[in-house]
Order: sequence, then structure tokens, then C-alpha cells
Amino acid sequence: MNCLLLYFTGTFNTRYLTGKLKERLEAIGWNITTYEIDPLNNERLDLSAYDIIGLGYPIHGYCAPWAFLKFIRKQKFPKKIRVFIYKNSGETEHANDASSKYVLRKLRRDGAVTKNEYHFLMPYNIHFRFDENLVKEMLVMDDKLLDILVYEVSHGISNIQPMKLWPRIVSAVVSRPQYIGGDVNSFLYKVDMDKCKGCDQCIKRCPTKNIYRDAEGTIRFHHHCLMCMRCSFYCPADAIHIGFLEQWGWKVNGGYDFRKIEGIKLTAPVITDRTEGFFHCYIESYGKINRRHGEIFGE
Ligand SMILES: Cc1cc2nc3c(=O)[nH]c(=O)nc-3n(C[C@H](O)[C@H](O)[C@H](O)COP(=O)(O)O)c2cc1C
Repeated sequence: MNCLLLYFTGTFNTRYLTGKLKERLEAIGWNITTYEIDPLNNERLDLSAYDIIGLGYPIHGYCAPWAFLKFIRKQKFPKKIRVFIYKNSGETEHANDASSKYVLRKLRRDGAVTKNEYHFLMPYNIHFRFDENLVKEMLVMDDKLLDILVYEVSHGISNIQPMKLWPRIVSAVVSRPQYIGGDVNSFLYKVDMDKCKGCDQCIKRCPTKNIYRDAEGTIRFHHHCLMCMRCSFYCPADAIHIGFLEQWGWKVNGGYDFRKIEGIKLTAPVITDRTEGFFHCYIESYGKINRRHGEIFGE
């Protein structure tokens, strides 16, 4: 099978996941091409060379990120081509369930056939830092979900569920503000020049070239931001104030060393039936993954 993995990433969680997926699909003999969306290059790809396409994205505001959707809308998916979705986020709340709504609409319009969709767990690079033991446990669950994905997709087994009304409403309500949010938020971004170390990582790494130095050397922002958070992700001095998001306690943490975390040996479960608060939603996700994994692989 010739398979394209087409994805967008802000802070590289989706890139990491795509690498793992590529390895798994190559292990069953598939020929994999990966394509990371560059928001400044909305080229139209020749998708006719592929038998199947995987679409990967981080959930942004209960939707697919605008840069991803814009790129997908530019493409012409061949009629009847098989597509599967692998999205990821730090929460598995049902509010995220309809995040592929507009992606699926585009695919339906082109006549592509989407029968599989998977929600992977990846630690936040926003708000707060996840404990590394928990990240390790999430990666174990992601491995199981990859097993399920590879099995179901390669055997032509559909897992698409009808979307409930309320996540569809959430997605519809949040999508518009989310799509213009970065442009508006850019007016509020500020770099604390007392903290700034002058490394210019934010300028160099911004995928839309939204950041520049003015004549006085102060770092400033244009108004075509994707809110991918790559600028603050790379900032070694935590000097970037990310506009209106800060009032909700947003803070970008910098990345995780996934290779190191993969090596952690867990001695006890991190998420249990008694887990409460933010991570309560993981109980249901873990349960679903374990159940399906057991059905397929008999453990
Ligand atoms: C602007 C923005 C909005 C986000 N919105 C959501 C959300 O609605 N639901 C959620 O579970 N996670 C949300 N997240 C978290 C990301 O989905 C998560 O950190 C993801 O793994 C990031 O992937 P990436 O590193 O490939 O960009 C959001 C992150 C950003 C930067």
C-alpha cells in the first residue's frame, strides 16, 4: 500500500506520533511518505499516487487547527480514496469529539472515504507540565492505540462513530474565533525584553514569519499567527506573553524528551479508577483502548 501521512504540528507532538505511526505501517510492508504542512506553502499535492491517506493534527479549540484545515481545503482528494484520521490532544474530554467535523465535510465533498478516526493522548505543551510517569503511561496507551489503528485500517475495519450533537455545537461555536484568534491575539503578544536573551529562536522558528525585530531591536508581531505556540515553546527565557490566553493561565512548557521517557519503567499505574479532576477523562479513554486492544489481540 502506498500511504501518505499528511500532518500539521505546532510543538512537535504530532510529528513524534507520525514517526511512530510510520514505523508501524512500514513494519506491515506499507510504503510510507510523510508530509508536514508548512503554513506558508499551500501547494496542491498530487494525491492520486496514494492508496490511502492518514491525516494528523493536534486539536486546537475543539477543532482541527486552521493551518491544517486551510491546507486540506486546498487539496483535491481522489474520489473513493481511503482516509483515516489520527488526532491528538492533552485532554480526552468529549468536547473534542467533533474536532474533525470540518475535515470530514471536506473529505465527503471530494468523495473520499473516511472510515477510521483515532484520538491519541499527548502531553500538553501549554497550561502546565505533565508528570513524566504519566507521559510514559500515555505513550504506552498510544502504542496500544497504534496497534489498534494498524490492525483496523489494514483489515478495512471501520471505527467511525456518529458525532453527538453537543460536541458538534462546541466545535462550530469555537471554530470561527479559533480561526481568527491568532491574528487578533497577535495585537496582545509581548516579549519581555528584560528577560529576552536575544537568541531570536522565536523569530527563526515561527512557521508564518509573524515575528520580527523593529528598528529599536524590540521583538514585535505581525498579525498572521496560528497560535501553534512554537515561539514560546522555543523561548529559553519564558519571555513571551501569549496575549489573551494568559488570562486562562496558559503557559508553554517547552518539550518533553520522549526518547528518555520511553525508557522509564513504571512500577504502578498513574491513572486509576480513583483519579479525579483534569485527568478523570483518561479513565474512560484508557478503558476504551484496553477493551478494544483485548478484543483484537486477546489479552
Ligand atoms: C491554541 C491551542 C489550542 C488547543 N486546544 C485544545 C483543545 O481544544 N482540546 C485539547 O484537548 N487540547 C487542546 N490543545 C492542546 C494540543 O492539542 C496538544 O498539546 C497537542 O498535543 C499539541 O500537538 P503539537 O505539538 O503537534 O502541536 C490546544 C493547544 C493549542 C496550542
